Amino acid sequence: MQIKIVPSMMDADLANVARAVAQVEAGGADLLHVDVADGHFVPSIMLGPQVTRAIVGCAHVPVGAHLMMTDPLRYAPTFAETGVDTIFFHVEAVDDLAGAVRAVRDLGVQAGVAIKPKTAPPSLAEAVGEADCLMVMTVEPGFSGQDFMEDACHKIPALRQMFGSSIDIYVDGGIGPHTAGRAVSYGANVLVAASAVFHADVPPDEAVARLRQAAEAALADGAAPI
Ligand code: DX5
Ligand code: ZN
Repeated sequence: MQIKIVPSMMDADLANVARAVAQVEAGGADLLHVDVADGHFVPSIMLGPQVTRAIVGCAHVPVGAHLMMTDPLRYAPTFAETGVDTIFFHVEAVDDLAGAVRAVRDLGVQAGVAIKPKTAPPSLAEAVGEADCLMVMTVEPGFSGQDFMEDACHKIPALRQMFGSSIDIYVDGGIGPHTAGRAVSYGANVLVAASAVFHADVPPDEAVARLRQAAEAALADGAAPI
């Protein structure tokens, strides 16, 4: 299981996005994460296609867009055109999950399915064999800087059973040096972090490296359940 560290750009200095991207890439970021919120599926509004395109334009690693939107399929084509590699949408926002995954993949991007903290794993059953990756929210989506909800990780072992060992399972929300290892211990391998990267007591490059150390230490302890 390869650990991947994914800075969430919502907390970056967007007035100097190229510098922020360069800093986290220098720290070893594997991917970047762009949060898109519509003010309806979640209370906040943030990061549209123009900012996403700017981030993609200066990134050397793949970028994922996390659509926290009531109608993700309406906007997925717009985000696919920004050059992102992966589009995440929420299982809670679609009626036909398998159809939604296929619709996103038909745009030429990978389809990731995100699941809110209190949604149960069987709701993802239709995505088995279809989704490219999964994202378990460990806060209620919408804002950075919230406390890690460890209970949300309890569904990760079941998702590993359903989807197998090779799929990337992201955790998003409240991930920092003290929680990264906990998330990995349940079987997550991709860690998204905003405040722990951009509002840390060390520069963003060091913050990324610190997250990786915490996650890899948990993995070395044999923490992952599969
Ligand atoms: C939450 C977003 C997360 C957020 C995480 O709604 O989906 O990606 O940026 O922020 P932190 O890491 O500060 O919890
Ligand atoms: Zn996110």
